[in-house]
Amino acid sequence: MGHTVTLFQAAKDAGKPIVMVTAYDYTMAALAEAAGIEALLVGDSLGMVVQGNDTTLSVTLDDIIYHTRWVVRGAPDTFVLADLPFMTYQPSVEMALRSAGRALQEARAHGVKLEGGEEIVPQVNALVQAGIPVMGHIGMRPQSVHLYGGYGKRGKSKKEHDELLASASALQDAGAFALVLENIPHGLAGEITGRLHIPTIGIGAGEGCDGQIQVFHDLLGLQPDFHPRHAKRYADIGRQMIQALSSYANEVRQGLFHSK
Ligand code: KIV
Repeated sequence: MGHTVTLFQAAKDAGKPIVMVTAYDYTMAALAEAAGIEALLVGDSLGMVVQGNDTTLSVTLDDIIYHTRWVVRGAPDTFVLADLPFMTYQPSVEMALRSAGRALQEARAHGVKLEGGEEIVPQVNALVQAGIPVMGHIGMRPQSVHLYGGYGKRGKSKKEHDELLASASALQDAGAFALVLENIPHGLAGEITGRLHIPTIGIGAGEGCDGQIQVFHDLLGLQPDFHPRHAKRYADIGRQMIQALSSYANEVRQGLFHSK
């Protein structure tokens, strides 16, 4: 095995930024590993970027297990986390254990990520007791999109600010090895990062985090007309793919496909 969960704490202790990206299949994982990305997340964002849904809510544990298998195969030397989908861990500690157990046994993930605050502390505790590394996820939690009424920033009010600080500490105390901070004020992300001894991984949370995570499609422009505010685009591959596919189609139609 290449990278293990210990890389997270070692990086924070050494002041070294942690780089993460999502991946959903063998090829993406192999590309990310070749680029030296430290850890991969098989995110339930696959419900949107792979399955084309408006939310992540319909992703199943079987979906995550299916995709995680190929990611682990494509990046054998990289730490791979499986995202636990909506309602596969919230109902009970036992359900969380069974879901995470399947992700590790059937898909060979190295750990799991769970969205939630203080209310999921019993689940995090039990998973860690069972030997399963857990990454928490607070702030904008896409599985709660209907409760929030959209994907906007969280933690702007004093109440939410205080709740997020409390959740961060509670998840750390429960044994989470790192926390995703999604779409929260940058000052708050810096405050949480300063208070915790475990690393924070930001997305739309500013440079005060210990690392960053981005969705693969957003980084590379695979969806040319979709540009979320928190995303930074390093390539325009979607448009290049359309151009390449059009060239192929034109050559076949004009009888030029076998000419060179
Ligand atoms: O599902 C996902 O891809 C995520 C990351 C963006 C943090 O939760």
